Amino acid sequence: MKTYIVGNWKLNFTVGEASIYLHKLMKALPNYRDTEVVVAPSTIALQPLSLQVDRHKIKLAVQNAFYRDFGAYTGEISFSQLDGMVDYALVGHSEQRYIFGEDDKMIAKKVAAAVRNHIKPILCIGETESERAFNETADVIRDQLIGGLSEIADDDLDEVLIAYEPVWAISSTKVAKLATPDEVTDVVKLIKKTLSDTYGKKEAEKVPILFGGSVSPSNAGAYLTVPGVNGLLIGGSSLILSEFVDIIEIAKKVQS
Ligand code: 13P
Repeated sequence: MKTYIVGNWKLNFTVGEASIYLHKLMKALPNYRDTEVVVAPSTIALQPLSLQVDRHKIKLAVQNAFYRDFGAYTGEISFSQLDGMVDYALVGHSEQRYIFGEDDKMIAKKVAAAVRNHIKPILCIGETESERAFNETADVIRDQLIGGLSEIADDDLDEVLIAYEPVWAISSTKVAKLATPDEVTDVVKLIKKTLSDTYGKKEAEKVPILFGGSVSPSNAGAYLTVPGVNGLLIGGSSLILSEFVDIIEIAKKVQS
């Protein structure tokens, strides 16, 4: 399986800054066949960046979109409008869940809308600090996983990626503790088991699992060697070009 290195730029960079970053990133990267490098800029930058990007080197992701294809939904954009412009979509990121009130029902519809429009959803799941403290991690992970996948046909499971991002490990949260590789191992095992119990072992094995939460060049190697982890979802560190390139190079080394 490929290794996925996904940079989530969140609400950062003007369109001009995003374009300059992409230009520099393309220059810095050789054509890695086994590493899928993806960046998720602000939606406003996607259209110009989609004309600029060399898709052999880098793919684009949208950070969020609405689940209806068209209609009276002021302020929204649809996955159908993004069809052909992006290859991936973050869905259910914890910032959408907790700041904007997205629930598993809406997330499931977004996962289905992405798949329907030829975009691979990266379904983000993860427990909060208090859920972990109350031993609810396993329940939360199972609910978010099965809930988020509930609107797609079983056959479409191979279109989906899962990102495990413990909310308490995200760099912008007040507590931001680093997850230990053992903690990640346990949850990745649970994700695999849940997928396997629901869809069968063979199908479950096709689903890439990414880890996210304060990933940087200094810990990327440790997370990438956690059994079952196929990639990283990176926030803060992806905004610094040299760090993002370092992480891509670490991924390449871990693979070989
Ligand atoms: P940080 O890497 O800044 O912790 O962000 C993680 C994240 O939310 C990526 O989607």
